[in-house]
Amino acid sequence: MKKDVSLDISLLEPHVTKDKLKDLQTKVSSIHKSLWNKTCKGNGFLGWLNLPTEAEKTFGDVKEVAEEIRHDADYLISIGIGGSYLGARATIDFLSDPFQKQNVLFLGHHISSDYAASLFSFLKDKDVYVNVISKSGGTTEPAVAFRLIRQELAKKYSDSELQKRIIATTDAKKGILHDFAEKEKYRRFVIPDDVGGRFSVLTPVGLLPIAAAGCDLQELLKGAKSMQDLCEKNDNVLDNPALTYATARYLLYQQGKNVEVLSAFEPFFQYVGEWWKQLFGESEGKENKGIYPTAANMTTDLHSLGQYLQEGERMLFETFVRLGQTYAEISIPHIEKDPDKLNFVAGQTLSDVNENAYLGTKYAHCDGGLPNMTINAPARNAFSLGQLYYFFEFAVAVSGLLMDVNPFNQPGVEAYKKNMSALLGKPGFEEQKAKLDKKIKGE
Ligand code: PA5
Repeated sequence: MKKDVSLDISLLEPHVTKDKLKDLQTKVSSIHKSLWNKTCKGNGFLGWLNLPTEAEKTFGDVKEVAEEIRHDADYLISIGIGGSYLGARATIDFLSDPFQKQNVLFLGHHISSDYAASLFSFLKDKDVYVNVISKSGGTTEPAVAFRLIRQELAKKYSDSELQKRIIATTDAKKGILHDFAEKEKYRRFVIPDDVGGRFSVLTPVGLLPIAAAGCDLQELLKGAKSMQDLCEKNDNVLDNPALTYATARYLLYQQGKNVEVLSAFEPFFQYVGEWWKQLFGESEGKENKGIYPTAANMTTDLHSLGQYLQEGERMLFETFVRLGQTYAEISIPHIEKDPDKLNFVAGQTLSDVNENAYLGTKYAHCDGGLPNMTINAPARNAFSLGQLYYFFEFAVAVSGLLMDVNPFNQPGVEAYKKNMSALLGKPGFEEQKAKLDKKIKGE
């Protein structure tokens, strides 16, 4: 039997104890029920709850197109931002060998002209497919990137070839990208109506680029499904790790701990951390509430943020994500006369050193007044990652509902978009532009 993602909260005491968790059982049970019977806040966006099973419906088509991409292209350019970017990036980064050629490249997740120019120049003599991803269909960053890359690719592909090489992932029925893709007869995958961007990694949004990168979709979905089963049948705050995590965070938040640091001791977690930041930041951060999510890459950041974590303001708590096993065994050699004074670690593996760094850090941080918990992921594989995705998605839904916000909307993201559109001269934003022009001039 495969091992599951698990949670150790022993170093959260006295801030979080089993008794304090149990005190919230009734509230947690009612939230659990409101999610599964779809009566909670934001209940129009609960499609992610069943995605691990639903995904099987599109799975075959996604795999077929991914195989075509792997066969006919040197690179897939995945265009998207936020939830239309981070899941694929996190998965590919987590599962891939960092020193092997990466065949999925990203564009449209920022607006850097130097990045775009470098990418276009790199792609000149390469065969390329494009997957443009946007649920709303009108997000400026990916829309601009898509227009630019079409211009680049038109220099080397005929119209019909270009049509074959562009795949759009859009809303089922509406949006500028949806209409454009229909008109140009691009192949299309659909983002279900009831799944928000940051919960969409297990839809074609994430699955197509992930499969094109050669990652194991089946195991990813199996892992997510196993966590779905656990989360569905178990509403016990002490037995369901996603509920324990959500409730522990809530207790910490009530005690003024309003910043959570997700710390990992493997670099492969870096983009999982980025994905997690979006998931928690957008789901909780509203109505002047929410835990600010930030991530640290250890041990690298122990030499930058470590001082603050150990001795800075105590509004923080820390969540370690730890791998139960690594694949490589690198043993540290013994050297005669010990010139670098390292023979005390000779015979130990690099993983032993890393594990001791983690243990040393968690006890030091605890002693420094930084409560911490650990999410144990069995291994760096697709199954564990699928479990982690569902674990975090379920946890953030519960934790947002504990804070009494709608975890499934993101009204605050619109403010900068409106200003940017106005400043760029988008029709319909004239009044806003006039206001902003005054502010910019200091009037
Ligand atoms: O979680 C969300 O809904 C957002 O982060 C979106 O994913 C992001 O803004 C991109 O939106 P879209 O897919 O509509 O281009």
